[in-house]
Amino acid sequence: MTADAPRRYHITTFGCQMNKADSERMAGILDAMGLQWCEDPLQADVVLYNTCTIRDNAEQKVYSYLGRQAKRKHERPDLTLVVAGCVAQQEGQTLLRRVPELDLIMGPQHANRLQDLLEQVFAGAQVVATEPVDILEDITQPRRDSTVTAWVNVIYGCNERCTYCVVPNVRGVEQSRTPEAIRAEMEVLGRQGYKEVTLLGQNIDAYGRDLPGTTAAGRHQHTLTDLLYYVHDVPGIERIRFATSHPRYFTERLIRACAELPKVCEHFHIPFQSGDNAVLKAMARGYTHEKYRRIIAKIRDYMPQAAISADAIVGFPGETEEQFQNTLQLVDDIGFDQLNTAAYSPRPGTPAALWDNQLDEETKSDRLQRLNRLVATKAAMRSHRHLGRLEAVLVEDQNPKDPTQVMGRTRSNRLTFFKGDLQQLKGQLVTVKITEARAFSLTGEPLTETAAAASRQAPDQAAAVAMP
Ligand code: SAH
Ligand code: SF4
Ligand code: F3S
Repeated sequence: MTADAPRRYHITTFGCQMNKADSERMAGILDAMGLQWCEDPLQADVVLYNTCTIRDNAEQKVYSYLGRQAKRKHERPDLTLVVAGCVAQQEGQTLLRRVPELDLIMGPQHANRLQDLLEQVFAGAQVVATEPVDILEDITQPRRDSTVTAWVNVIYGCNERCTYCVVPNVRGVEQSRTPEAIRAEMEVLGRQGYKEVTLLGQNIDAYGRDLPGTTAAGRHQHTLTDLLYYVHDVPGIERIRFATSHPRYFTERLIRACAELPKVCEHFHIPFQSGDNAVLKAMARGYTHEKYRRIIAKIRDYMPQAAISADAIVGFPGETEEQFQNTLQLVDDIGFDQLNTAAYSPRPGTPAALWDNQLDEETKSDRLQRLNRLVATKAAMRSHRHLGRLEAVLVEDQNPKDPTQVMGRTRSNRLTFFKGDLQQLKGQLVTVKITEARAFSLTGEPLTETAAAASRQAPDQAAAVAMP
C-alpha cells in the first residue's frame, strides 16, 4: 500500500441478513486497516462484492457487476477486486477462470480473516480462500449501517439438507458462538446506544447443539431459549429479535420464553416452504403442514397479537396444481403478516436440481403471481388490525419519500411512518397512534408532543410515559 492518500473501499452486499452482518464486519476490518469508505464503487481502490447464490438470478447479478469492474481494472491495474460470500464459496477457482482480473475470492467462513487475505494480495498474490475453517471470534469492531439496530451472529452454517438449498454447501457446518461472546457483543452495543438486536442464524433453533455441555437428561445446556434468558437483561438493549426459525426444532419452551421476556418482540419468522406434505417430504424439511399449523396456533395461544412471517417456494420439482393449492390454503388459513415467496430455482450441487420432474418456467411464474396476490391481500388484512392502536415505534431513520416524517418499526416489525424530526427522535421509542394501514406499512401520529419530548429526556420510560 502507498503511504500517500488512504486507499478507498466499497462493499456491495447481496443476499440475506448473514451477508449483511458479514459485510459490516469486513468493513470494520478495512476501517481498522486504515482504508476509507467510498460511496461510489467506480471510484474505489478496493471493491468487494459480498455475493448470494440462493437462486440463479441472485448469482447472475454478480457477474454483470463484475464485468464492469474487470474492464476498469484494465485501465487501473492497482484496483483490488474481491468476491466474498456464497458465490465465491460455490464457484471458487471456476470464478477465477471466468474473471481472471479478480485478486481475492473468499468464502463466508473467511470474512473475519479479510485483513490477512488482503495483505497477501497487496504482497502480489492472487488468493482463493474457500477451505472450511473454524470461524474466528470477531477481533474488530464492525462498521454497522445503523446506530439504532444491530445484527449479532449466534450460529454460523447449517446442518440441514433441504434438497433445494445451497446454504449448507456454501456456509458449512453449524458453529455456535459462546453465550459469553454473544452477551459481550450485546453489552458493547448497549453502551454504544443501540436499542435493538437481531440474533442471527440460518437455523437459529440449532443454536448450541455443537457447544460442549449436555445435561443428565440429554438436553443441551445451551439452547436458543437459554440464550434468550441469558442475554435478556443487557443494559440499554430494549428489543430483541431472532431469525431464522426452523419448524422442525421450534419448541413450546421457546414460545413461553418469548411470551415471558418483555424485550423479545412478538414477531416470528418461520419459513414453511410448502403447504403440502408430499412436497415437504421431497424437500426433506422434516415436518408436516399439520405440525406447522400447531406451532402457529401455540404461538397465538401465548401471544394472540404475534406477527408471523415466513418463506415459501412455488414450483418445486413435481409440484402439482393440487399441491400448490395446499400452499395457497395454508397462506389463506394462517394469514401471514409477511411472506417472502420465490419460484424454485435449481442450484448446482443440490439433489433436487438433478431430478427429471422439473416444472416449466411459465407454470412457476404463474403460481408465483397467484401466491403473491393472496399474500398481499392477507398482509393488508393483517396490517388493518393495527388501525387505531397505540404502537411503540423505535425510530430508525427519515422516511426517504417524505423528509417531514421519520420511520421505525413496531414490535410486530411493521414499518411505520409519522411526522417528526429525526435528529430529536432517532433511537427513541415513541408511542404512535396508527391512522393508516397499507399491506406492508403503517402511518400514525405520535401520541402527544409531550410524549415525544418526554422520550427525548428519559428514553427508558418513553413508552410508559406516553401510554394513556
Ligand atoms: N434457513 C432458512 C432460509 C434459508 S434461504 C430456512 O431454513 O428456512 C432463504 C429462503 O430462500 C428459503 O427459505 C427459501 O424459501 C428460499 N430458497 C432457498 N433455496 C431456494 C431455491 N433453490 N429456489 C428458490 N428459493 C429458494
Ligand atoms: Fe437451507 Fe434448509 Fe438450511 Fe434453511 S434449513 S439454510 S433451507 S438447508
Ligand atoms: Fe444467499 Fe448465502 Fe444468504 S446464498 S441467502 S447470502 S446464506
